[in-house]
This record gives sequence, structure tokens and C-alpha cells, in this order.
Amino acid sequence: MARATACLFLLVFGFAGPALASDVSSGAIENETGSSPPPASLSGVMPRIPENYNCITCHEDLDDETLTPPVNGWKESAHREAGVGCADCHGGDPLDEDNAMSKEAGFIGKPATIDIPALCSKCHSNAKMMRPYNQRSDQYGLYSGSVHGRKLLSGDEEAPTCVSCHGKHKILRVKDPNSRVFRKNIPETCGVCHSKKEVFEKRRKPFNQLALYKKSWHYEKFSNGDLLVPTCVDCHGNHGVISSKSRRTQTVCFNCHSSQTDYYKASPHWDAYQKQGEPVCLNCHNYHDIMKPTIAKFTGDKDSDCVGCHDESGNAYKTGVKIQEVMKSTISSFVSASAKLKYFKDNARGGFETSGLTEKIGKAAEQIENLNALTHKLDISAVKRESDKITRISDSVSASIAYMWEEIKTRKIGLVTAWIVFIGFTFTLWMKSKYWKRADRHAKSK
Ligand code: HEC
Ligand code: HEC
Ligand code: HEC
Ligand code: HEC
Ligand code: HEC
Ligand code: HEC
Ligand code: HEC
Ligand code: HEC
Ligand code: HEC
Repeated sequence: MARATACLFLLVFGFAGPALASDVSSGAIENETGSSPPPASLSGVMPRIPENYNCITCHEDLDDETLTPPVNGWKESAHREAGVGCADCHGGDPLDEDNAMSKEAGFIGKPATIDIPALCSKCHSNAKMMRPYNQRSDQYGLYSGSVHGRKLLSGDEEAPTCVSCHGKHKILRVKDPNSRVFRKNIPETCGVCHSKKEVFEKRRKPFNQLALYKKSWHYEKFSNGDLLVPTCVDCHGNHGVISSKSRRTQTVCFNCHSSQTDYYKASPHWDAYQKQGEPVCLNCHNYHDIMKPTIAKFTGDKDSDCVGCHDESGNAYKTGVKIQEVMKSTISSFVSASAKLKYFKDNARGGFETSGLTEKIGKAAEQIENLNALTHKLDISAVKRESDKITRISDSVSASIAYMWEEIKTRKIGLVTAWIVFIGFTFTLWMKSKYWKRADRHAKSK
């Protein structure tokens, strides 16, 4: 339930990422990040684009492979709809063809990469201008403090600018399914750049995040339309991507998996994390390629299993083995009871009431879910106590089913006996009637 609430929070506040929860809650409209946005040159709602807007009419007719596509892209954009024209970004005079691209009319041509964030932000950081549209105005503030923004503004042109994520001219609304930043398309938008060997190899950084993420259980759910599972921006932020080594990123799992987190925080591992930075969720589950875990992890042989940090002869490892043993026997009694119940429901006839047992098994399944989370506390007696409850329920279901089969058997024996008696009686009667008929015929013939 608590996880659901946390996730709902994310949904409501526009997926700016749990890592940025504090930025998100600081308000959707004002720029409160402290970083100074470029001066705004415009304010209020944009006017409509007139018919004779010469940048468009001329560029459209140029039929050039770099000069014409901007027009086609722009025509589909949110900017066209809002009345943001070519000259609002490039300067120039859209109504005087002779001076259209003159310096005097403020024409800047193609902006330098490093200038793009400021260019976009002359409007997007202008809270007064964005307010009528009910748009946030914190993108530049977040971006300029982010890993990306700091790299770009220090001259690293391989870091993304606004257009790397939003497109050059075909800038669509976030909720448009064709937008690069529509939720479903985010892994590709971040991941394609982060998969480039030529960009990341020389930096000695991995470039496998998208490939790993696509193997994860999160992605499995994500690709099936589950909106609560995380994608890149939920763990890293969107405009304000922070260093992956930051504590906020390292503990990002806490935001959604509240019950595992509560138990983990009651374990010796939480103390160890405070002191030495591990183990936290990602040391045992990884972070991009997170799989559905099983109790095999307690005795597995990978670095992310217990043996990755604990000697097999030590106390910590043995604790894991004991937890696994208890879990194994509980799970097996539960699995056996559910299988028996299913078989009984599918095969037994005779009006037996099984809804009570179904309810019991459902409850045990919920308790197992809690038990899986409880293992994070590493408290054998707590695991044993909860396991015993589940085993008792499961065993009682198995016993009830065995009793009902017994009942069916008894009824069957009763039924068969009744049939034998009935058939025997009928046969005797038939024999007798034959005998009487014969005796009768005999008497008549005499
Ligand atoms: C009469 C035709 C015409 C008009 C009107 C016109 N352009 Fe151009 N534009 C061109 C041609 C031709 C080029 C390529 C040659 C050049 O750079 O002068 C070009 C180049 C550009 C470039 C690329 C410059 C670069 O540095 O690569 C931009 C940006 C641009 N125009 C924007 C605009 C805007 C904005 C307007 C309206 C204010 C506009 N144009 C009006 C014909 C036109
Ligand atoms: C929202 C701002 C914005 C608007 C509106 C806009 N542009 Fe651009 N334009 C840019 C940016 C930013 C670049 C540089 C992209 C880059 O460096 O990758 C660019 C680049 C260009 C170029 C250079 C070729 C290229 O694709 O890089 C041309 C030509 C151009 N724009 C023409 C236009 C025309 C014509 C219009 C109107 C139909 C227009 N632009 C509307 C922001 C805008
Ligand atoms: C690293 C990719 C990336 C960069 C760089 C980026 N954005 Fe975004 N932007 C996103 C994503 C993703 C969303 C969609 C919100 C979400 O789902 O998290 C978004 C949403 C938006 C929105 C919609 C309102 C909102 O904030 O949700 C605006 C406006 C916007 N960005 C403008 C900008 C501007 C201006 C810049 C440059 C200063 C910029 N973006 C840079 C990824 C990026
Ligand atoms: C002249 C002002 C201006 C400039 C410059 C500008 N924008 Fe916009 N932008 C707007 C307005 C106005 C809207 C429409 C808001 C609305 O209708 O909700 C908008 C909408 C958007 C949206 C869609 C937001 C949504 O509702 O999901 C994105 C994304 C965006 N702009 C990104 C950019 C990027 C990237 C640049 C720079 C290349 C840029 N803008 C430059 C004014 C501007
Ligand atoms: C245009 C390419 C590009 C795009 C698009 C892009 N990034 Fe990046 N990203 C970079 C570069 C370059 C760096 C800096 C690497 C370095 O430290 O030298 C970086 C750094 C990062 C880091 C910090 C890594 C670390 O070592 O701590 C994270 C996290 C990150 N990006 C996540 C994202 C997310 C999430 C998105 C999508 C919303 C995204 N990136 C989109 C190029 C890109
Ligand atoms: C479930 C949360 C989560 C999701 C989803 C996620 N990441 Fe990460 N990512 C992390 C964590 C946690 C780290 C830091 C791990 C560490 O170094 O200790 C990280 C590290 C990174 C780094 C630094 C280099 C590295 O690989 O260690 C980059 C770049 C990155 N992620 C990009 C992405 C991109 C791109 C996506 C989407 C395709 C993505 N991440 C999805 C949690 C996530
Ligand atoms: C934005 C919320 C969110 C974040 C952040 C998040 N998760 Fe998840 N996670 C989910 C949801 C939702 C599911 C899907 C549950 C299901 O299977 O229905 C899930 C599934 C899982 C599963 C599989 C659960 C199972 O049933 O076997 C594991 C393991 C997991 N996450 C671990 C992590 C770890 C580790 C991190 C941090 C690196 C993390 N998650 C970050 C929401 C999140
Ligand atoms: C010391 C290693 C370790 C750490 C640290 C750890 N886990 Fe686990 N996790 C496991 C093991 C082992 C299992 C399998 C237990 C089971 O199936 O009973 C598991 C199971 C899970 C599951 C799936 C089963 C369930 O509970 O529904 C989720 C989700 C999960 N962990 C999330 C987290 C999160 C979130 C954190 C951080 C707060 C975390 N884990 C920290 C080892 C760890
Ligand atoms: C990434 C390293 C790491 C992993 C993986 C890990 N632990 Fe630990 N564990 C620690 C550290 C560090 C401590 C605290 C210092 C110590 O006592 O060794 C600790 C302490 C413990 C303790 C309490 C101390 C003790 O000796 O009794 C137990 C119990 C324990 N771990 C069990 C497990 C189990 C079970 C697993 C697998 C599910 C596991 N650990 C996986 C690092 C790890």
C-alpha cells in the first residue's frame, strides 16, 4: 500500500524522478533552484503565426535537404500550435523579406550547441510566460546543475542539450505518443546515446545501460504498459540528472519498495551501509538488469549473492542458509496445499464447499509475499515465526482436502454396497418370478 502511494506520488508529479522528489514538491511553476535563468525577452501568450511569415514560405520552397526539413518538423510541433515561430528562436524579420536574415533584425542563424539551453530557456524559464500554459519553468535550473548541463556548459559538446532529448524542430508535447520523451520512448531517448561506444569508451564509462535495462523485470513490466515500474528518469531524474554515485541514486529503490526497505533498515546491513557504503539493495539485486529473485540467492555463487561478501564458514552465511531452509519447507507445504486444492476443485464431485479453503490459501499467499520481504531483516526467529503460521494454514488446508477425499471414498463404498444389494435383490426377484411363472405354466398344463 505504501509503495502504491509512493508510486502514485510519482505519477501525479509528472515522473520527474524520485531522486528529485524535493525539486518536484517545491512547486511546478516557479524556478526555485537558485540558478539564474537567462533573461526573458518575451512575456505573455504567443501571437499566432501569420500567413505571410517569410521564413516559412521561402524555406519551404528551397527544397534543400538541410534548409527545408526544419519547416516540416516545426509544422508538427507543439511550438507551431502555440504560435512560436522560426524568428522566436533564430531572430530575423519574418515580415520583411529583404532583411529577413539580417544581423540588424537580430538574426542569429544556427545557434551554437553550447548556446541552445539558454536559447530555449529564454521562454521556458520565464515563469510569467509559462504560467498561462500551466507549464513548469524549472528545466534550465535543473539542467544547468545536472551532470549533463555542467558537462555541456564546460564545453563538452557530447553531453545532451535540450534538443538531444526533445528533437530539433519536431518538438512534441510530453503526452504525445510520438514524443521522444513520452514515457514509453524514454529508454530509447536516453539509452541510444548512452549506448554509443565512441562517446563513452574514451571516458572509461560503461555504455550498456539500455541493453541491461531491457533484460530486467522492471522493463518486462514497463513494456507491457505498467506505469509504476521505473524507467531511466525515475531513478536518475530528467532535467536534473545527478551523479549515479550520489546517495540519492544509490538509495532510489527505497522510494517504491517500502516494505523491503523497512525490513532492510532493521537489519545489520543498514548499519553497515551507513558506515561503509554497502550492502544496499543494488549490491544484491543489481540496478539495470534487476531480475525476479528467489531464495536460491542465499546459497548462490554470484557476487550479488550472500557468498559475494561472506565466507561460507562464517556466521552471516549460515544465517542465510537457515533462512533458506525454513523458507523452503514453508513454500513446499504451501505449494502442495494449493496443488491439492486445485486438483480437488477440478475433479471432486458432490457439492463440497471449498470457498473457505480458497480464502485460506489466498491469505497464505499474501503472507508469503510478506515473508519474502521479511527475509531482508535477516532475523531467523522472525522468519521462523511467520513461516510457521503459513505452514499451519497450508497443512490445515491439506488435511481438510484429505478428509473430503476420505468422505468421498466412504460415500462411494456405501453407494457400491447399495448397488450390489439392489442388484442382488432384483436378480433374486427375477429368478423367483421366472420360477413362479414356470410353476404356474406347469400347473396349467396339468
Ligand atoms: C528568401 C528566402 C529566405 C527567407 C525569407 C529566409 N531564409 Fe533562411 N535561409 C535561406 C537560404 C537560401 C539559406 C542558406 C544560405 C544562407 O545561409 O544564406 C538560409 C539559411 C537559414 C538558416 C541556417 C543558417 C546557418 O547558419 O546554417 C537559418 C537558421 C535560417 N535560414 C532561418 C531563417 C529565418 C528564421 C527566417 C525568417 C526570419 C529566414 N530564414 C528567412 C533563405 C531564406
Ligand atoms: C524552438 C526554437 C526553434 C524554432 C521555433 C525553429 N528553430 Fe531552427 N533551429 C533551432 C535550433 C536549436 C537549431 C540548431 C540545432 C542543432 O544544433 O542541432 C536550429 C537549426 C536550424 C537550421 C540549421 C539546419 C539544422 O537543421 O540544424 C535551420 C535551416 C533552421 N533551424 C531553420 C528553421 C526554420 C525555417 C524555422 C521555422 C519553420 C525554425 N528553424 C524554427 C531552434 C528552432
Ligand atoms: C536528458 C534529456 C533531456 C534534456 C537534456 C532536456 N529535457 Fe526536457 N524533458 C525530458 C523528459 C524525459 C521530459 C518528460 C518528463 C518526464 O517524463 O520525466 C521532459 C519534459 C520537458 C518539458 C515539459 C514540462 C516538464 O518539465 O515536464 C519541457 C517544457 C522541457 N522538457 C523543456 C526542456 C528544456 C528547455 C531543456 C533544456 C534546458 C530540456 N527540456 C532538456 C528530457 C530532457
Ligand atoms: C519563444 C518562446 C519559446 C522558445 C524560445 C522555446 N519554447 Fe518551447 N514552448 C513555448 C510555448 C509557448 C510552448 C507551449 C506551451 C503549451 O502550449 O502548453 C512550448 C512548448 C514546448 C514543449 C512541450 C511541453 C509540453 O506541453 O509537453 C517542449 C518540450 C518545448 N517547448 C521545448 C523547447 C525546446 C527544447 C526549446 C529550444 C530548442 C524551446 N522549447 C524553445 C515557448 C518557447
Ligand atoms: C546526447 C547524448 C546523451 C543523452 C541523450 C543522454 N545522456 Fe546521459 N550523459 C551523456 C554524457 C556525455 C555524460 C557524461 C559522461 C561523463 O561523465 O563524461 C552523461 C552522463 C549521465 C549520467 C551520469 C553518469 C555517471 O557516471 O554518474 C547519468 C546518470 C545519465 N547521463 C543519465 C541519462 C538519462 C537518464 C538520460 C535520459 C533522460 C540521458 N542520460 C540522456 C550523454 C547523454
Ligand atoms: C531502477 C533504477 C534505475 C533505472 C531504471 C536505470 N538506472 Fe541507471 N543507474 C541506477 C543506479 C542505482 C546506478 C548507480 C549504480 C552504482 O554505480 O552504484 C546507475 C548508473 C547509471 C549510469 C552510470 C554508469 C553505470 O552504468 O554504472 C548511467 C550512465 C545510467 N545509470 C544510465 C541509465 C539509463 C540510460 C537508463 C535507462 C535505459 C537507466 N540508467 C535506468 C539506477 C537505475
Ligand atoms: C518507480 C518505482 C520503483 C523504483 C524506483 C524501483 N522499483 Fe523495483 N519494482 C517496482 C514495481 C512497480 C515492480 C513490479 C512489481 C510486480 O512484479 O508487479 C518492481 C519489481 C521489482 C523486483 C521484482 C519483484 C518480484 O516480484 O520478484 C525487484 C527485485 C525490484 N523491483 C528491485 C528494485 C531495486 C533493487 C530497485 C533500485 C535499484 C528498484 N526496484 C527500484 C517499482 C520500482
Ligand atoms: C543482502 C542482500 C539483499 C539486500 C541488501 C536486499 N535484498 Fe532484496 N532480496 C534478497 C534476497 C535473497 C531475496 C529473495 C528472498 C525471497 O525470495 O524470500 C530478495 C527479494 C527481494 C524482492 C522480491 C521478493 C519480494 O519481497 O517481493 C524485492 C522486491 C526486493 N528484494 C527488493 C529489495 C530492496 C528494495 C532492497 C533495498 C531496500 C533490497 N531488496 C535489499 C537479497 C537482498
Ligand atoms: C555487498 C556485500 C554483502 C552482501 C552481498 C551480503 N552482505 Fe551480509 N553483511 C555485509 C556487511 C558489510 C556486514 C556488516 C559487517 C560484518 O558483520 O561482516 C554484513 C553483516 C551481515 C550479518 C550480521 C553479522 C553477522 O555476522 O551475523 C548477517 C546475518 C548477514 N550479513 C547476512 C547476509 C546474507 C544472508 C546475505 C545474502 C542474502 C548477505 N549478508 C549478503 C555485506 C554483505
